[in-house]
Amino acid sequence: MSEKSRFEYVREGAKTRDGVDIVYYEPNLPPGSKAERRMVRLVAFMLLLSGLAALIFVAAYIWWPFTDFPATDGWEYKPGNSFMKGYTPILGLSLGLALFLIGFAVLIWGKKLMPHEIALQDRHDGGSDPEERKLTGNTLAFIGEEFGLGRRPLLKVALLAPAAGLGAAALAVPVGMLIKDPHNPDELFRTGWSPEANGGKMVRMMREDMTPIRPEDVSIGGQITAFPMTADGLGATNKYADSPVLLIRLRPKDAEFLRSQLHHHPVNVGGMYGDLVAYSKICTHAGCPASLYEQQTNLLLCPCHQSQFKITENARPVFGPASRRLPMLPIELDGEGYLVARNDFNGVPVGPAFWEKPAA
Ligand code: FES
Repeated sequence: MSEKSRFEYVREGAKTRDGVDIVYYEPNLPPGSKAERRMVRLVAFMLLLSGLAALIFVAAYIWWPFTDFPATDGWEYKPGNSFMKGYTPILGLSLGLALFLIGFAVLIWGKKLMPHEIALQDRHDGGSDPEERKLTGNTLAFIGEEFGLGRRPLLKVALLAPAAGLGAAALAVPVGMLIKDPHNPDELFRTGWSPEANGGKMVRMMREDMTPIRPEDVSIGGQITAFPMTADGLGATNKYADSPVLLIRLRPKDAEFLRSQLHHHPVNVGGMYGDLVAYSKICTHAGCPASLYEQQTNLLLCPCHQSQFKITENARPVFGPASRRLPMLPIELDGEGYLVARNDFNGVPVGPAFWEKPAA
């Protein structure tokens, strides 16, 4: 009597133990055939290329000769922009190619290397018994077999290429930033309001048109979006996308209430100037601009997923998916009567990111 194949054991086990009847099973290409080997090589080639394209993205992101762009060029991509010199296109092309190739490889894998199979199982209530659960290990091994990984070692190795390349691409932004500028390890925590990044001087608040802001420019219950007046003149551009704040003049009673609440969040103590308060505009949920201020309730709404922050309670999130407060920018007046940031959000990081905590 001939020895049963692994598939026959699995089919028998699936039927007798799990009640799963594999009624039809046919490999797409004859196992071990020339056609199958050719398809395996093609998929492996695409996976390797995908990994290579992802590594090009990483290398370009970190080492492309990219210097700070001049104000006259703006931040947008324009062909021929002196600061770009192909930087943006090469990032887009390499990452796009990596994702396209891995997608295409998976598509061909599924279409050409997976068997045609029809399996039937009666629906039953409740979970599986412990004995059946033990069989899960075998089932998973079989799934791996069905994908052809057991007898297609080339694909196993080729899979490492996109995994490594795309993994590195995911890390390229935070790690690459530190490689590009190793003397500035706190770059991730610094915004345009940082006095250290502005020659030690406190940074003025300005409107988008670059005019500085005086306290009397904000009416009672009113608000202004303020940007840092950085030394390079790019405070209102994407270079400082993490810096915009909402400068609000609270009604006197509300301002008094907020002042009485500051000690509940000690980092905010002394952060107001009179009835004026400035909070980061970058939502701590997913980074949208939280700018819908409702004067009557003192709630600041983020339009993206409806998070609401209570301005008079140190911008505590009171509704929606955001779990962290909006950081307060400590403000005061400079010698000429303009509003300045005393410090860079007192070291509290803005927006959502790796420092995100589960609770405020
Ligand atoms: S980004 Fe603000 S609620 Fe999601």
